[in-house]
Amino acid sequence: MQSIEDVRTNLLDLITASLTPREVLRSVELKSLYSQLTELAPELRSEFGKAVNALKVELESAIDARELSLDNDDVESLDVTAPWDVNTGPIELLPTEQGTQHPLTKELEVVIDIFTRMGFDAIESRQIDDDFHMFGSLNFPENHPARDGYDTFHTQESFIAPAHTSTMQNRILKSGKDKLEAGGQIAAISYGRVFRNEDVDTTHEHTFYQVEGVFVSEKATLGDMLGVLRAFFESYYGQSLKIKTQPGYFPFVEPGLEFMIEKPAALGGNPLSSGGEWLEMLGCGMIHPNVLRAADIDPEKYQGFAWGGGVERLVMLKYSIEDLRYFESGKLAFLRKFV
Ligand code: PHE
Repeated sequence: MQSIEDVRTNLLDLITASLTPREVLRSVELKSLYSQLTELAPELRSEFGKAVNALKVELESAIDARELSLDNDDVESLDVTAPWDVNTGPIELLPTEQGTQHPLTKELEVVIDIFTRMGFDAIESRQIDDDFHMFGSLNFPENHPARDGYDTFHTQESFIAPAHTSTMQNRILKSGKDKLEAGGQIAAISYGRVFRNEDVDTTHEHTFYQVEGVFVSEKATLGDMLGVLRAFFESYYGQSLKIKTQPGYFPFVEPGLEFMIEKPAALGGNPLSSGGEWLEMLGCGMIHPNVLRAADIDPEKYQGFAWGGGVERLVMLKYSIEDLRYFESGKLAFLRKFV
């Protein structure tokens, strides 16, 4: 003869598994409990009867719950976090062949590829930063007029939308310090979107992209820097190039230079014109001792070079694009030329 507890466990299991749970109330096992009742000594009946009734109540509520969940199975689930109504299936997204990578993304990948093959690490720059990384760590004195050349957007909390990727220099230097002091060298590029308060025209935008390079070792020289830059430009344009520099002022380098290439004939340059057409591609120089100090690197022992320049300018020359504003315009006719 089964105990009430055994019957209870069996029937509850049955209910959770059954598609017609109410039938459990007519089960032989339950009926046998009632017939046991009549066979019990009269003084035991009351307690046993209460227990059987309690079991019936419990079974009924388990049946109700099971029936409710069976009903709910008929309703399709709704994921309120899904980007479309899961009940109606995926929305009609644009076919992938109608979307393309932005030309800047594509070209940035080419640039990163060239530098990583030369041994540089590549990290993306930040789009929101602070005064220390934008100016303080880069040897801009407080209130120095050199800050005016980097006028950009500020939040009310004094955060800054960076005006150049040089904001990453201090981070690169700090994170490479251990490697440097263990006899290695720091070699990294940082790329990303930067912002300036500009009067927008064919060669100026409020939002554009830069690539920054930082190299530090015990014996890095300006000659090494020119070699790296030449190698990069010749690889990017796929041909040998004439290069030259002229002095340029940036508080974070000493000496500071503007790096220029002669516009190649293959890219619309006129080799017959006297002296050639020189294009300024980026700013560069030997990292200022104060910039190394701001990252706790000993300028008596280590030296390095840095450069930074616009990505659009590179791409415009490569594809003869005449207006910088196209890049941020979202003009499909422009973007589809790069499919
Ligand atoms: N950050 C400078 C600019 O945007 C370029 C630069 C980078 C110059 C690194 C020197 C060294 O104008």
